[in-house]
Amino acid sequence: MIKTLEWTEEGVLMIDQRLLPTEEVYPVFRTYEEVAYAIKEMVVRGAPAIGVAAAMGVALGARDTKTDDAAEFDQAFNHICQVIGSTRPTAVNLFWAIERMRNLYASLKTQNASLSEIRQRLIAEAQQMHVEDIAANRSMGRFGAELIPDGATVLTHCNAGALATAGYGTALGVIRAAVEAGKKIAVFADETRPFLQGARLTAWELHKDNIPVTLITDNMAGHFMKAGKVDCIVVGADRIASNGDVANKIGTYSVAVLAKENNIPFYVAAPISTLDLNIASGEQIPIEERVTTEVTHVKGAQLAPEGINVANPAFDVTPNRYVAAIITERGVARPPYTESLRRLAK
Ligand code: MRU
Repeated sequence: MIKTLEWTEEGVLMIDQRLLPTEEVYPVFRTYEEVAYAIKEMVVRGAPAIGVAAAMGVALGARDTKTDDAAEFDQAFNHICQVIGSTRPTAVNLFWAIERMRNLYASLKTQNASLSEIRQRLIAEAQQMHVEDIAANRSMGRFGAELIPDGATVLTHCNAGALATAGYGTALGVIRAAVEAGKKIAVFADETRPFLQGARLTAWELHKDNIPVTLITDNMAGHFMKAGKVDCIVVGADRIASNGDVANKIGTYSVAVLAKENNIPFYVAAPISTLDLNIASGEQIPIEERVTTEVTHVKGAQLAPEGINVANPAFDVTPNRYVAAIITERGVARPPYTESLRRLAK
């Protein structure tokens, strides 16, 4: 089983995803600032994994705050949440996790809990979120596997696997569950420029699990769909608006449009914590813009002319009309999503 992240007494242990697949290294991030750095710099990435890392970062910061004064602790706690909350803007799981930690803290305060109890309970909550995320993925897998026919070839984009979650994965969880149910499944993994989550992470995970995977560059996806080589698409999500518009890794929108053109079902697998029912549509989702060197360079090697203009949006939004179903741990939502998602989230 792949270990993405883990709470330890010394801090938050994470596999450094920037080094995969050539090096498997597990540094420990010992302060909340180090955890914030790990999220921002993509040591840990993928919406649910970011959420769990954020909760652990908040717990770590709260544990190590050197004060016995409630007002000082309060100030420090808010600062920790603010620092961790300003790491990446798109995946709503980050804000969901911080909100959950804030809510727990607020309710413990009203019960007049001691600072030592508050610290313990925040740590326990972060660990509980880790456990719940794996359980959600297993459940999502069971619901999603029913949508995948035996003998199917599934195309996926980015990495929505064990590495993007506390374990097992969302989109790759669905694929894993279909395989565990005895189905014969093959996968096309888009390499996912510019950060190469598909080539480096999805290919690594599936290969490790002996699930047949063929790596393709992003611009090959349409060719294989038109040739009848793809039976369905399953991707993850970073934020889903109440109308079912889906923000996911840049390039997902192109895959969804190509899927519709070729009559291939396009499925999104995501936990309830990825739903943002406070926003009406995907237009309100903030899209992270990342450094230009991710586009101009690969592992330090320059690909593009010096000084060239570069755009690097990390995510795009797929309108709900392209989404055949949204697979959650509580069941499968179908259009119209404004109703089906609200029902599942209740
Ligand atoms: O920039 P990343 O690598 O954090 O983006 C990850 C994705 O877009 C994933 O598809 C998404 O978070 C779902 S992960 C279960």
